[in-house]
Amino acid sequence: MSIPDTLPPDFAGRVLAWFDRHGRQDLPWQRDPTPYRVWISEIMLQQTRVATVIPYFERFLARFPDLATLAAAPLDEVLGYWSGLGYYARARHLHRAAERMRRDWGGRFPDTLEQVQRLPGIGRSTAGAILSLSAGQRHPILDGNVQRVLARHRAVPGWPGQSTVRARLWKLAEQGTPAERSGHYNQAMMDLGATLCTRAKPECPRCPLNADCRARAAGDPAAYPEPRPRRTRPLRRVRLLLVHDRAGHVLLERRPPVGLWGGLWSLPECPVGEEPATWCQRHLGTEAIRVEMLPPRRHTLSHFQLEIEPLAVQLETRPRRVADADSLVWQNLDGTATLGLAAPIARLLQAFRKPQPGRTPAFGRKSLLEPDRVSQPPPPFPNDRKDS
Ligand code: ADE
Repeated sequence: MSIPDTLPPDFAGRVLAWFDRHGRQDLPWQRDPTPYRVWISEIMLQQTRVATVIPYFERFLARFPDLATLAAAPLDEVLGYWSGLGYYARARHLHRAAERMRRDWGGRFPDTLEQVQRLPGIGRSTAGAILSLSAGQRHPILDGNVQRVLARHRAVPGWPGQSTVRARLWKLAEQGTPAERSGHYNQAMMDLGATLCTRAKPECPRCPLNADCRARAAGDPAAYPEPRPRRTRPLRRVRLLLVHDRAGHVLLERRPPVGLWGGLWSLPECPVGEEPATWCQRHLGTEAIRVEMLPPRRHTLSHFQLEIEPLAVQLETRPRRVADADSLVWQNLDGTATLGLAAPIARLLQAFRKPQPGRTPAFGRKSLLEPDRVSQPPPPFPNDRKDS
């Protein structure tokens, strides 16, 4: 029989008493906590630590002190003030939400959970945080920190990304939120998760919730919440041609707008059944004078593992015209840094540019009359990075 998910009656009281002594109460957005200022801070804090956010928040607020200023600003300028914080969709959403509030709410911040939640970039937890921290409304929140505190206290099994686990945690969040001081309570729960109930090394002896924390009683609080289950990803192999001339130009191909590396520059793909020399004849109308196998590379993407088999193909001269001129371009190898290149391709080109131990330099080889040959592949997989 499973133990019911019920928080003890003094749960919120203990959290608030801890907040009064140890919680963060002097953060820049806590001074004059208007919905606008709290909103900006909550969006910045979504994937970023407090210490990193503070200077960005100060600069952003100095330039965009209110909704009207933000809504009237060009998006590029907003993105400029976001530069360095990452996850730029957050800034785009922020700008779009400001425009929406100007259009639909007369430039005021809406004041119900449903209305706030309908704005771009604001989910249920962020909406609850904005309205509880800025207006004292009673709403539960469930960001990553709160999730961890609750999952540990009640030893909730499973990965919180799963809907049943998440629903269980939302019920606990709802139950724990007090009628009075819910803003302080929410701030305290986030602070507890960020400072004591941390992911790797929780400081249980200092926690106000340690006496009846089930994960602690079980001896391994860090085992909660469970991590995302590991996915097994199918392997997809592609053969990419690094076609180059002796003057240091490489042939790049723009990827189709959707799918892997959509719209980014990459290397042309050679079907596995086709000889690279035949590919060059067909697409470039010219002969390859040398084909060399480069070390294969593996990349982990969200839905599959990609194994790239790169082949360096040297041409005697670069043809003036290429058949697929819209998607294929010649580029000086030293000038590829400013292009929108897929990250694994940028790394591959960089490795190719640098002479490798045991390999002849990429350009300026002497042997021109060497027949086409494919050398033995070097040892596999020097890297395995996660790219998206
Ligand atoms: N993370 C998200 N919101 C936060 C807040 N208001 N204070 C500290 N960390 C947070």
